[in-house]
Amino acid sequence: MALTSFDLNARDGRARTGVIRTPRGEIRTPAFMPVGTAATVKGMMPESVRETGADILLGNTYHLMLRPGAERVARLGGLHRFMNWERPILTDSGGFQVMSLSDLRKLTEEGVTFRSHVDGSKHMLSPETSMEIQRLLGSDIVMAFDECPALPADRARLEESMRLSMRWAARSREAFGDRPGHMLFGIQQGGLERDLREESAQALVNIGFDGYAIGGLAVGEGQEAMFGCLDFAPGMLPEDKPRYLMGVGKPADIVGAVARGIDMMDCVLPSRSGRTGQAWTRRGQVNLRNARHADDPRPLDEGCTCPCCQNYSRAYLHHVVRAKEMIAGMLLTWHNLHYYQELMAGMRAAIAEARFAAFEEAFHAGEALGDI
Ligand code: GUN
Ligand code: ZN
Repeated sequence: MALTSFDLNARDGRARTGVIRTPRGEIRTPAFMPVGTAATVKGMMPESVRETGADILLGNTYHLMLRPGAERVARLGGLHRFMNWERPILTDSGGFQVMSLSDLRKLTEEGVTFRSHVDGSKHMLSPETSMEIQRLLGSDIVMAFDECPALPADRARLEESMRLSMRWAARSREAFGDRPGHMLFGIQQGGLERDLREESAQALVNIGFDGYAIGGLAVGEGQEAMFGCLDFAPGMLPEDKPRYLMGVGKPADIVGAVARGIDMMDCVLPSRSGRTGQAWTRRGQVNLRNARHADDPRPLDEGCTCPCCQNYSRAYLHHVVRAKEMIAGMLLTWHNLHYYQELMAGMRAAIAEARFAAFEEAFHAGEALGDI
């Protein structure tokens, strides 16, 4: 029997719910993956991240190859042992992060050479080296090596970049080889252009992957344009494989993506915004820096069961945010990740019970009320 699988349990409209099975555990979909870029979800113990309901974390090839180095992580027993998270880990392949973070990049057919944003040292990433690094890390879900222009980009640039990423996808597949228990996902590119998305989907399906990501979105195009693309892009990918929308997003983006057939997502937003005093609740975004919270004895969210909302007042959160105390980022990250995972659990239940449209409506009504 195969060591990994994906089973859909229910559909409601285009929304789906199911489970990805791996030797390190099950991933309930739609799934939100907290980002653990540098082998930590910043400000959270891994057992706390699990308590929020996360089944899988995301790690980054780019950051980990530069510091502490993939060989070192491998010598120390792999990324799971290293960071004390024994459940599934998906690693991004590095190309996207090189383009946004590194200095002096040079893109060729072979791959990309760049200087580290950490110490200026020179490095090379290619489909082959990215697959090797993700193998050394011990990633359960490995991403193909790709490239992606920021939007808006002209069509010629999008087309050229997408075709290069598809040649890299074929090389990624070849270099990954046969690794039972591990999955390899291809990444669709093509910007907002329907025909380029179709060409990319066909190329990926011909190569054959265990799952399919939609890349190149949430790169400056705005929610309306992204939803426009998600109205057709997921339908180009195989029904029976997981579909992963990379780098998305705000709660409303996530609900809209699930409505359009997405099964997995990741975003730094709940953790990063927690570190700047921002919280997400059923009433939308709340800024704890705001003076209106200074004397407020109520919890951040009356209906939330997270440790932040169970034990601390808005007044306290306001104080520790203003005083730049470490606990501010810890508590707000915990709340935000809890909120995101509750949102995912709510969507999974709604899809299973064929009431996703009502769920969506209630979600938007809550955000429209705003925080009071
Ligand atoms: N994260 C967000 N978007 C992308 C993308 O297009 N490719 C990769 N590899 N990672 C991403
Ligand atoms: Zn809470």
